[in-house]
Amino acid sequence: MTSTSLPTILTGDRTTGPLHLGHYIGSLRARVALQHEARQFLLLADTQALTDNVGRHQRVTANVIEVALDYLAVGIDPAKSTICIQSQVPELAELSQYLLNLVTVARLERNPTIKEEIRLRGFERDIPAGFLTYPVSQAADITAFKATHVPVGDDQLPMIEQTNELVRRFNHTVEREVLVECAPVLSAVPRLPGIDGKAKMSKSLGNAIALGATPDEIAQAVKDMYTDPGHLRVSDPGKVEGNVVFAFLDAFEPDVQKVDALKAHYRRGGLGDSVVKQVLNERLQALLEPIRTRRREREADRGEVLEVLRRGTLRAREVAGQTLSEVKRAMGLTYFEH
Ligand code: TRP
Repeated sequence: MTSTSLPTILTGDRTTGPLHLGHYIGSLRARVALQHEARQFLLLADTQALTDNVGRHQRVTANVIEVALDYLAVGIDPAKSTICIQSQVPELAELSQYLLNLVTVARLERNPTIKEEIRLRGFERDIPAGFLTYPVSQAADITAFKATHVPVGDDQLPMIEQTNELVRRFNHTVEREVLVECAPVLSAVPRLPGIDGKAKMSKSLGNAIALGATPDEIAQAVKDMYTDPGHLRVSDPGKVEGNVVFAFLDAFEPDVQKVDALKAHYRRGGLGDSVVKQVLNERLQALLEPIRTRRREREADRGEVLEVLRRGTLRAREVAGQTLSEVKRAMGLTYFEH
């Protein structure tokens, strides 16, 4: 098996906080499986996190190691996947600089993800230039590794589109096929809701269960979970749709028949929330126990984790450096070469 016959996968995570069950369902689980069938690069996107965390740089940098611990805890194997730190791969910043000339400000302002994020953050007209242009930096991340596949949530699809536009624009400009277009890989599983019933689990919304959660934290989160507000007495029929406990059982309980039986019983009436929550609690405790244990073991040797990151980052620099030299050669930026 040669490495060129394998797809190249690039994933990225902003390092604004440790990862949670939503990440696990949406992407981490898949990445653990994919590392056997692809050349996989995992980018700790601290530079991108800084674009909307001015003044909170310490939180961003502190979380680099937290996210790395999450990767290792869920089973990302540094011998199979390359974990690297975005800010420590200067080739990415250099490539961004060239790509920035190939996109207009108007186009960036039309990017639906950016538009929504600007709205959420209340930037209005005071948008940091680095924030507006982060799709270009993300395009540099993707193209520097010549990624063919990029696993993303649907909110990131505009980034892939923008990346491929830049690839075509660059290759057209230099009249050479230097950069490679990529395909998004969308998760097949539905998005995990927050424990409060909001559509998205997110640390900043306070409705997440962290991968490193303690048994008590898991139990408390399950206890707090939004169910069916109309299900007042055990004997009442209950609603499964929009009921977070059942959404979680769908996501985490592999015994589909068991889940179906619980749903039928709940709908009929006679099944109390506390009973279903107990089933879910046991399931989540069993899932997170080994992850938490591996995380603790790794946490005890931070030096070793940093060493994994150092090696991954060096490897990433080699790959990105190769692409960058091709890019510069295509543009004639080769003054000192003969
Ligand atoms: N934008 C992604 C996020 O918000 C993180 C990211 C940075 C990324 N660079 C990337 C994702 C490259 C995919 C590919 O989570």
